[in-house]
Amino acid sequence: MFQTKDTSSTFIIFSLLLAASLDQSYAAAPRKKLQAALERTAESNLLPWTQRQQAGRSPFTTADVDAMWAKHNRSAVRFFLRNGEWTMNGSADWYPGLQRSLQGRGGEVHELLIDLHAKMGLPDGLDLVWNLYDIPLIPATSQAYQQPPLFSMCSREGYADVPGISGGAFLFRFPTFNRSEVLARHPWKTRSNKAFWRGSPTGGNFSLDTWRDHVTFHLDTWPQYRRPQLVNLSQQHPDLLDAKFPSCVQCAPGVFEQMQKQLGQPEKVEWPSPDDLMSHKYIVDLDGNGWTERFLGQLAQQTAILKRHR
Ligand SMILES: *[C@@H]1O[C@H](CO)[C@@H](O)[C@H](O)[C@H]1NC(C)=O
Ligand SMILES: *[C@@H]1O[C@H](CO)[C@@H](O)[C@H](O)[C@H]1NC(C)=O
Ligand SMILES: *[C@@H]1O[C@H](CO)[C@@H](O)[C@H](O)[C@H]1NC(C)=O
Ligand SMILES: *[C@@H]1O[C@H](CO)[C@@H](O)[C@H](O)[C@H]1NC(C)=O
Ligand SMILES: *[C@@H]1O[C@H](CO)[C@@H](O)[C@H](O)[C@H]1NC(C)=O
Repeated sequence: MFQTKDTSSTFIIFSLLLAASLDQSYAAAPRKKLQAALERTAESNLLPWTQRQQAGRSPFTTADVDAMWAKHNRSAVRFFLRNGEWTMNGSADWYPGLQRSLQGRGGEVHELLIDLHAKMGLPDGLDLVWNLYDIPLIPATSQAYQQPPLFSMCSREGYADVPGISGGAFLFRFPTFNRSEVLARHPWKTRSNKAFWRGSPTGGNFSLDTWRDHVTFHLDTWPQYRRPQLVNLSQQHPDLLDAKFPSCVQCAPGVFEQMQKQLGQPEKVEWPSPDDLMSHKYIVDLDGNGWTERFLGQLAQQTAILKRHR
């Protein structure tokens, strides 16, 4: 969250963050039009806090930001811009409570902010907290307006977290891959016609007692268990769809092995390389707990993305 004098500067910063996420082709769009679109998006996402301002409350203070940080420091990092340098506070070096799996996301946001500052210049003194979880944290109740806005990797209905930018996941695994080279190896006509998906069955928890219900395809339970149900569909239609789990992060011990057996998966399924992904015409993208971290990266792979929202 921001320590800013007024909400309009918050909008502008948010707009800049959005702008940074846009592909270069968008950057060529008329600047004024783009700016207006970004500001509209920022305003709609910052609605609860706009109302706070309209209610005549004071701007957020350092103490408000401190309170938010103290509350969310297990899953969030704090960034300060001082004398032109962005500092990320929340690395494992100083706070071992921040989960290791979230460190990469912190680094990604840090790089984004550094890049933004270099390209566009941001006001010194910015101080914001960024939730790195794959679920939002601030329920959109009037209570939430008391706190400064929290940037999150994703948000959803009923939450007031401001959705941030994430291009990670896929790219993190292959930090040195050269997109043009990989694309050159896979012209569209040579690509597989099967829709392709790899990921974890996040979105639900899988216990020894219940996991079998969740891999059964059923429209009623699809919204929560879409990922395991997609893998089920893949088993039923292997000519159309190749969907597998390389791992399960929300499975009780022993569940993953049983699940793999029932779904006819080999014991070891690799996470896909850029070549694996870009040798397919169609990539399925299904939200897990909150959103798909890989989505933005996948937009740059010249594949058709089949995305089902919830
Ligand atoms: C982080 O959160 C814990 C528990 O919520 C709290 O006790 C601690 O003081 C917080 N640390 C910081 C640096 O705010
Ligand atoms: C990071 O936060 C901790 C706890 O609030 C503080 O003691 C430390 O000075 C901060 N580090 C930086 C570089 O600001
Ligand atoms: C990626 O590969 C292309 C084609 O070989 C080359 O022209 C380009 O410089 C490479 N980009 C980077 C960042 O290495
Ligand atoms: C899964 O378990 C975690 C930890 O017990 C819990 O916080 C979360 O709400 C559960 N998710 C679902 C979808 O049941
Ligand atoms: C997949 O879902 C169907 C229901 O559409 C169910 O009959 C079948 O048992 C499921 N397959 C597996 C491997 O669980």
